[in-house]
Amino acid sequence: MLSSAEIRQQFLDFFRQKGHQVVPSAPIVVKNDPTLLFTNAGMNQFKDYFLGNKKPQHTRVADTQKCLRVSGKHNDLEEVGVDTYHHTMFEMLGNWSFGDYFKKEAIAWSWELLTEVYKLDSSRLYVTIFEGDEKEGLPKDEEAYNEWKKVIAEDRILLGNKKDNFWEMGDTGPCGPCTEIHVDCRGDDERKVVDGKMLVNNDHPQVIEIWNNVFIQFNRVWSDKKGFDDWNLNTKNPGKEERAQKILECTRLEELPAKHVDTGMGFERLVRVLQGKQSNYDTDIFTGTIAETEKITGKNYDYSDSRQAIAFRVISDHIRAIAFTIADGQLPSNTGAGYVIRRILRRAVRYYFSYLDYKQPLLHQLMPLLARQFETVFPELQHQVDFVSKVVKEEEHNFLRTIDAGIKRFSIYTGATGGSASSSFIMENINDPEEDSKVTASYISLISKYEFARKRKEVNGEFAFELNDTYGFPYDLTELMAKEIGWHVDKTEYDSQLQQQKSRSRAATAIDTEDWIVLDENGNSEFVGYDLLETISKVVKYRKVKAKGKEAFQLVLDNTPFYAESGGQVGDTGSLDFDGEVINVLDTKKENNLFIHFTDKLPANIETEAAARVDVAKRKSTAVHHSATHLLHAALRKVLGTHVAQKGSLVNAEHLRFDFSHFAKVTDEEIARIEQLVNEKIRENIPVVIKELPKEQALQLGAMALFGEKYGDVVRVVIIDPAYSVELCGGTHVGHTGELGFFKITHESAVAAGVRRVEAVSGKSAAGYMDEQLAVITGIKEVLKNPKDIRKAIENLAAENSELKKKIESLEAKQLNVLKQQLLDKQTTFPLTEGLDAVFIGDVVEVGSADALKKLCFDLQKDISCFAIVLAANVDGKASVALALDQGVIDIKKFDAPTVIKQHIAPLIKGGGGGQKTLATAGGQDTSNLEKVIDVVKSLL
Ligand code: ALA
Repeated sequence: MLSSAEIRQQFLDFFRQKGHQVVPSAPIVVKNDPTLLFTNAGMNQFKDYFLGNKKPQHTRVADTQKCLRVSGKHNDLEEVGVDTYHHTMFEMLGNWSFGDYFKKEAIAWSWELLTEVYKLDSSRLYVTIFEGDEKEGLPKDEEAYNEWKKVIAEDRILLGNKKDNFWEMGDTGPCGPCTEIHVDCRGDDERKVVDGKMLVNNDHPQVIEIWNNVFIQFNRVWSDKKGFDDWNLNTKNPGKEERAQKILECTRLEELPAKHVDTGMGFERLVRVLQGKQSNYDTDIFTGTIAETEKITGKNYDYSDSRQAIAFRVISDHIRAIAFTIADGQLPSNTGAGYVIRRILRRAVRYYFSYLDYKQPLLHQLMPLLARQFETVFPELQHQVDFVSKVVKEEEHNFLRTIDAGIKRFSIYTGATGGSASSSFIMENINDPEEDSKVTASYISLISKYEFARKRKEVNGEFAFELNDTYGFPYDLTELMAKEIGWHVDKTEYDSQLQQQKSRSRAATAIDTEDWIVLDENGNSEFVGYDLLETISKVVKYRKVKAKGKEAFQLVLDNTPFYAESGGQVGDTGSLDFDGEVINVLDTKKENNLFIHFTDKLPANIETEAAARVDVAKRKSTAVHHSATHLLHAALRKVLGTHVAQKGSLVNAEHLRFDFSHFAKVTDEEIARIEQLVNEKIRENIPVVIKELPKEQALQLGAMALFGEKYGDVVRVVIIDPAYSVELCGGTHVGHTGELGFFKITHESAVAAGVRRVEAVSGKSAAGYMDEQLAVITGIKEVLKNPKDIRKAIENLAAENSELKKKIESLEAKQLNVLKQQLLDKQTTFPLTEGLDAVFIGDVVEVGSADALKKLCFDLQKDISCFAIVLAANVDGKASVALALDQGVIDIKKFDAPTVIKQHIAPLIKGGGGGQKTLATAGGQDTSNLEKVIDVVKSLL
């Protein structure tokens, strides 16, 4: 049996022999394309070649591409794990022709590879071709039909409609008719009964598509973007079909200048077919992580469609998506691509938590195995395996804590404990009384709010939604937990809450973008701002944008000196002077290759030429901070080690922020060494050399590869001494390092697991920062009446202060002693059981702190036995109570101190509290009931 690695290699070798250049996978995370978060097909990185925007180095290319289909047009997330052949991340094997060969070769080669190299039984293969579409005026693909006829019987060539046989990248973009190859993996007996051709494209788990050959001929463009956006905003939950129909109405197809081939073969499915397995998860791509998960959890993977089996598949699938996106530079977060990763990770956690009964972080434990498995194909994971594991573990840990808090809330609501869905992941004890009292108060309101639903043993829909929204519980989990204790969930209300939230967030993020008004069809959008800070330019198109009720404009110029935000560097600001009418440019951003200038008004005559002027001072200070970032990056690697890799950055005129992988706090001593190194490089006044080179050549120079570059890209390399710093970078820089003047780190902190952040200033900002620091010292000197040695003066002050504190403490202790005597004198008794009285001390007293109250309670106990003590005080305007009960009192009365505090005292003082059985305290806002507190305890006793 061929291994998956061999199968992959044979594909690449085959196309290499057919004259293709084999290239690496592009990163799975997409930057600078607002229509796409993740690579969802092998062709994404070649989009510009299809559209004719860029010329390729090679016209024939092949690769295996990491893809993710969990958002947008191609979204399979909910299927994954439930069936045995969908995935979040998958590898797409592909071969491409950029205006080179077309249908004839593509079809002949795919047949040759499948039947002669992989030796697939041709009697199990079917192909589909595009039948044409009247509405869009597209003819049947006769050419593909005729090519197939040469190698396969005509009754195995099936016609397919637009849905199956016309491939599109997204709502818009390159597209064209396609031909798919399907394979029938059923046993011979079954095949005799039902003809395989009946099952093609019918969701049969054994009759599956393995390869799609797309003939890219068109570009789909918006004809009525506004119409679509309006519809999108006003239509509640449109179905997939309905949405597709609307897109059709609002777009049109444009013929491309050249014809291309774009193919994609699902690697996991191919391996399954060639290894003769029933399920993708039984191939050697997944069996390793499944076996490891069995070992860790002590549960067995049993191939069924039980929840337990699904959990194994979900984990072994999701771990790949999570690992490779993080390795490609995307950290889990609350927005955009980061949020998608977080959701995938949480789906995996919920599955092992609920169905494998595993309550500890698990995914991170699989990481070393996965990294080794893919070491030769996608080495980026092995290179950062410690970092990725750490990030994943932290995410798992945090989410498990959230689930745990949700489960607590659920059991407070239902008054039940236990059930197998419940957590044994123990939340660290919250020892913060203020936090404690907040939690108690929220529990009390939870119980009273849903009193009626609770009586019906119903989980209120709004509460189920809160569990989902705040604690990440999928509806399933809440329902499961409810069932376990014989309760039910109000699904109708839950659904309505969900719907309301969707409408709210749609309204909040609605941006109303009008269509471009094009002034010059042929106008380019070129950035010339590396060399020029002022140009004479013309507006080629513009549009109006409305967000949150405010109106703004976006302008595209034929050539522009304005740098558009990217690579962490902020966009330029400045002005456009239209023959005396000056419009401010508030920001500049990039959409694919378009440079967009943001303004808040339009000039009266937009068709005249404008003088485009960048704010020079701001640009200069920004360049200072960008060059400083490079010097810092290199210094971090020298001082901390080469594991340091950039994870994010922000560069503007005021300061720089740099996030990087590193596991410990950067010490003061390390910071000092980093600053020294950077300042040394500044003083050397090194020229900043900038070159444009093919990516491969740049990497040979030792450039640190950042994310987002694709095969064949010509990259810009910024060299500050070839032996010190070589980086791929599109930003703007100073001419010589001496222009930086000085460099100073202002903050060091943690941003996520394994990621540290350094903030720093350079140039004018550094001088300003140092002035501020010196002013603080001067201020201190003045306060201390200009001592010779300020350090000594402050040390003396501190010593004096602690001396005084000690004196006060001793005076307070004496005072407490007096108070204690007074309280002992006032003691009374209460009958505990027949013939046995206990001591009661209860009073409102005057003390300086809650601690003093507690101490008084302790001290009193030394002189009495069998007692109940309750003391209350007004401490700085807040109510403070301490309650001590002797164990004998607890045993006989059947209540303990925290119970009394929570149930009887907390409501009286409008607060909360807790503690040990024999000694508990409470704090609250209301000081008007302190006497009552004493009375309540007295009457309880
Ligand atoms: N781009 C085509 C697909 O993704 C090959 O199916």
